[in-house]
Amino acid sequence: MPLVSMRQLLDEAAKGGYGVGAFNVNDMEQIQAIMEAARETQSPVIVQASRGARAYSQDRFLYHLMIAATEVYPEIPTVLHLDHGNSVATCKSAIDMGFTSVMMDGSLMEDGKTPSSFEYNVAVTREVVELAHAKGVTVEGEIGCLGGIEDGHGAGGDGLSHLTDPDQAVEFVKQTGLDALAIAIGTSHGAYKFSSKPTGETLKMARLIEIHNKLPNVHLVMHGSSSVPKELQDIINMYGGKLKPTWGVPVEEIQLGIKNGVRKINVDTDNRLAITGAIRKVFAENPSEFDPRSYLKPARAAMQQVMEDRMNAFGQAGHAGDYAPLSLEEMRAGYAAGGA
Ligand code: G3H
Ligand code: 13P
Ligand code: ZN
Repeated sequence: MPLVSMRQLLDEAAKGGYGVGAFNVNDMEQIQAIMEAARETQSPVIVQASRGARAYSQDRFLYHLMIAATEVYPEIPTVLHLDHGNSVATCKSAIDMGFTSVMMDGSLMEDGKTPSSFEYNVAVTREVVELAHAKGVTVEGEIGCLGGIEDGHGAGGDGLSHLTDPDQAVEFVKQTGLDALAIAIGTSHGAYKFSSKPTGETLKMARLIEIHNKLPNVHLVMHGSSSVPKELQDIINMYGGKLKPTWGVPVEEIQLGIKNGVRKINVDTDNRLAITGAIRKVFAENPSEFDPRSYLKPARAAMQQVMEDRMNAFGQAGHAGDYAPLSLEEMRAGYAAGGA
């Protein structure tokens, strides 16, 4: 089957009461790890690429790798999503390329760092909704800002200074007509999220529940949702790495989120850790090795294991064959008929 709409995947996830992981990719091995995990667990999947990933892979390579994924794994409903689009032009270029879903992150200005005004956010998100829905493509927006800054998709700090305001979220959804809403509840991108294991208080789960109660039919998105498992940190450090002790988002808190309207869960860092640990291990144990396949294969397998664990934990496992995917043309007609 061709690449499918994210909106349909999330609508189905809402019906089934489960979440769908959205996993970042930059290269062939990462795409293969996700697709193999999806086949193994029979999961629908969201594969996402940031602006950095698009630049790294020269965009069209990534697109064609994703087309290959749909050919090799025809039974898996697969979405290609733009992560953290920073402008209308970036989103438009992704739609033109064949992405079936885009995120317009208007919570930040185009630099990906400076918090924007509500009016700016509504204006750019609304514009993307209009041009995306005209092609049946899904739109994710964001209200409130994540912490962290190193990837250029965060407002800096610990993620607590720009939490989502529930009433503003309601207004934002009404004024933009988006399909999925990313909220800020205290997470940040990258490995260094928390200096001790976060509780539901640290994570502001009550805020998430309040937003869900006000917007019960809106698909919520949790960014910065890597769990940063100690086992993966330990492998890196055991083989010469120097990660400082750190904590991510516990899987149980994500599961609580899923019970309260979270349908899309963004994970990138955990895969980066798994890949790096596996490569370091090969380099440390076999210093004479120089065939890239000798370390890329274990790296891909390590990422696949993380992906299977997350697909099972989020509940998407077993749902790949539940429904017949709609074409983007059918999605377009649905939007045109007022079915957003
Ligand atoms: O949102 C952040 C993702 O982890 C992507 O990061 O911009 O370094 O590719 P990136
Ligand atoms: P992590 O850094 O927690 O994996 O978050 C990824 C993300 O939110 C991508 O948009
Ligand atoms: Zn993100």
